[in-house]
Amino acid sequence: MAAPLPEQVIDGQRQDWNRVAGGWEKWDRFFDEQMAFLNHRLVADARLRNGLRVLDLGSGTGYPALLAAQAVGANGSVVGIDLAEHMLAVAERKAKQLGLPNVTFRVGDVTTLPFEAASFDAVISRFCLMFVPDIPKAAAEIARVLKPGSWVAVAVWSAPEKNPSIAISMAAVKQVIDLPAADPMAPGIFRLATPGEFAGMLEKAGLTDITDQEFLGEWSYGSTDQYYTSLMEIAAPVQNLMATLSEAQRLEVKHLIIKAASQFQRGAHITFPIAVRMIAGRKPG
Ligand SMILES: C[S@@+](CC[C@H](N)C(=O)[O-])C[C@H]1O[C@@H](n2cnc3c(N)ncnc32)[C@H](O)[C@@H]1O
Repeated sequence: MAAPLPEQVIDGQRQDWNRVAGGWEKWDRFFDEQMAFLNHRLVADARLRNGLRVLDLGSGTGYPALLAAQAVGANGSVVGIDLAEHMLAVAERKAKQLGLPNVTFRVGDVTTLPFEAASFDAVISRFCLMFVPDIPKAAAEIARVLKPGSWVAVAVWSAPEKNPSIAISMAAVKQVIDLPAADPMAPGIFRLATPGEFAGMLEKAGLTDITDQEFLGEWSYGSTDQYYTSLMEIAAPVQNLMATLSEAQRLEVKHLIIKAASQFQRGAHITFPIAVRMIAGRKPG
């Protein structure tokens, strides 16, 4: 089968993430409690401080843009961009609830940023760039919109074997149906897991002082059922896989996922290790 065209990927992404926006709003508090440490790491790597103007790529329901808005304060500002308007509607509600008038959200594609050259003091992004069909183009756009001397900091998923909370769902589906071998270059959750890959793209785009580190953490769910329900309600790529199954196959996959997740029981919680690549770089000048 021919690979989808970039515009088909973008359109699919928009539809996928719009579909799960309600799930993200439902699970927002839980994921913020479990994943906020990644936002803090991005704020630090991008050297955010009072008064800066920041761009967040693929903000979804608002992170890390909302933490960045707190970091830069009333004298600074943050723009979050994303394809999915329903995700951004959630982000806007959260900004209002948090009393953050210095953050705005805008629909757009990270490979064609609607901003002038050298218009931002920092660029940040969490779990977006691996879904982009032309990632070098996104890297070039980051380099274009950064002011000389300013930083980009990006988080993407590391390898599947280090991220069982994502990988066990895919492994379970593979146990039940024959899936065609995934194209490692196709946009997807683990597309940027290889060390040095996105760092190399930033370097080619002209950035300097690049770091690429694997950051190990963990997160905890109250039960295997809570884990399974949240996975099905927020993980658009997993939903897409499940949609290809019959009802009987879905039940079998659910059973396999819950069985695999129960191996991560620690005390009263299901605690998964996670591994995230944190890549940062600076525009010369
Ligand atoms: C896994 S969500 C991450 C959302 C948020 N940054 C977070 O960490 O909670 C991925 C987001 O990337 C967005 N996205 C995917 N491809 C994009 C593109 N080409 N341009 C802008 N946003 C994109 C999706 O719409 C989705 O909201």
